[in-house]
Amino acid sequence: MDKIVVRGGVPLRGEIAVSGSKNAALPLLFASLLTEDECRLGQVPQLVDIRTALRLLHDLGVEYDWLSNSEVALNARAVRQLQAPYELVKTMRASFLVLGPLLARFGRARVSTPGGCAIGARPVNLHLEGLQQLGASIRLQQGYVEAEAKRLRGAHIALEFPSVGATENLMMAATLAEGTTTIENAACEPEVADLATMLNAMGARVSGAGSGTVTIEGVNALQGVAHTVIPDRVEAGTFLIAGAITAGDVFVRGARADHLGAFLHKLQEAGVQLEEHKDGIHVTCEKRPSSVDIVTQPYPGFPTDLQAQMMALLSLSDGRSMITETIFENRFLHAQELVRLGADIHVQGNSAVVSGVAFLSGAPVMATDLRASVSLILAGLAAQGVTEVSRVYHLDRGYEHIEEKLSRLGADIRRVKSEK
Ligand code: EPU
Repeated sequence: MDKIVVRGGVPLRGEIAVSGSKNAALPLLFASLLTEDECRLGQVPQLVDIRTALRLLHDLGVEYDWLSNSEVALNARAVRQLQAPYELVKTMRASFLVLGPLLARFGRARVSTPGGCAIGARPVNLHLEGLQQLGASIRLQQGYVEAEAKRLRGAHIALEFPSVGATENLMMAATLAEGTTTIENAACEPEVADLATMLNAMGARVSGAGSGTVTIEGVNALQGVAHTVIPDRVEAGTFLIAGAITAGDVFVRGARADHLGAFLHKLQEAGVQLEEHKDGIHVTCEKRPSSVDIVTQPYPGFPTDLQAQMMALLSLSDGRSMITETIFENRFLHAQELVRLGADIHVQGNSAVVSGVAFLSGAPVMATDLRASVSLILAGLAAQGVTEVSRVYHLDRGYEHIEEKLSRLGADIRRVKSEK
């Protein structure tokens, strides 16, 4: 397995561009199953998770073609399989999002349940209960969800928790249902709103996406579309922290302040200087960050996907911060690795007390999930000496060419390929 080797201590300077959002692109790719026409998606990042999604779509019978290195054309005219196998769903949970579109267009689907996950239990009960409310019959057979419905029927669905995936799956399913569906306590994430934009451009009638109540009036068929994926707010936030943690001076092109409100607010509270421009955000950080308390929340709250990166920054703060993770049960695996670099972090239950230290020192560390891996790279950029991050396959699931992008800002970072 590849390693990333970082020699820290270089203040990053210059401009870095944000790629299209992974978490927006995945449901958008699966939404192509809802029509027999061609769908074109622009600003699709080159990531392992995107390749996994395309492989799954290809196995179902969807033809796809990369028109450039960020634009992909998909055609689901000749879908011949209605099954998503365990091998793919277990490597990428977002594969479960094929269930809603397959069921809505073809009347049945068989999709493996995702199984366990490093950051939490992550069940899919809300997806299944919602589909049942839309009239689907659901059976669990040998680890697979078997769903059937001649035609889904609109319903009033009140989600117990604003799950991003459940909102997306149900929204896609409801576009072709008979009648009107309302999803209450829907996830408000920008990725959900982006999906609604694409669905509406395909002829769907979705309103309220991006708020807690989404209404979908079912239609008989959807058409092809050309759509551009929104910029990745988590990648943008990661780069802003890279600028701040190295006391650098960085312009993050494509960072959208309107998608990063709670996060930017916390950075500013920590003393990081930010300037919002129409095409990006400029970050500088002249003094040691101050401590701040963070509680992760569904959007528009502080995003769980930036919690690990923020922990890296706060481990160098001037004071004691409390970080509380409310979305996932086990998303502090990076804490012990940051401690290996000299951080002072104590985890108790779903809270971590981070007492800032004056400096970190490079060490070999191991990545445990996507955002944990990048938090170790951020810490390594600030640490004295060399940090070696192993198991970086997690990183390749969500960050496009990260070592090249950071190198262009002056970072001393390289990938060491495994010998296998
Ligand atoms: N949940 C349930 N039942 C369900 C669905 C979710 O109990 O049926 C719980 C989960 O166990 C979890 C919480 O609800 O504790 C949040 O899960 P949610 O469904 O909102 O998350 P997701 O759709 O599985 C997406 C992102 C994650 C991101 C979360 C939260 C994608 C592909 N993934 O996951 O991204 O952390 O929303 O914002 O969009 C990442 O990119 O690193 C990542 C993990």
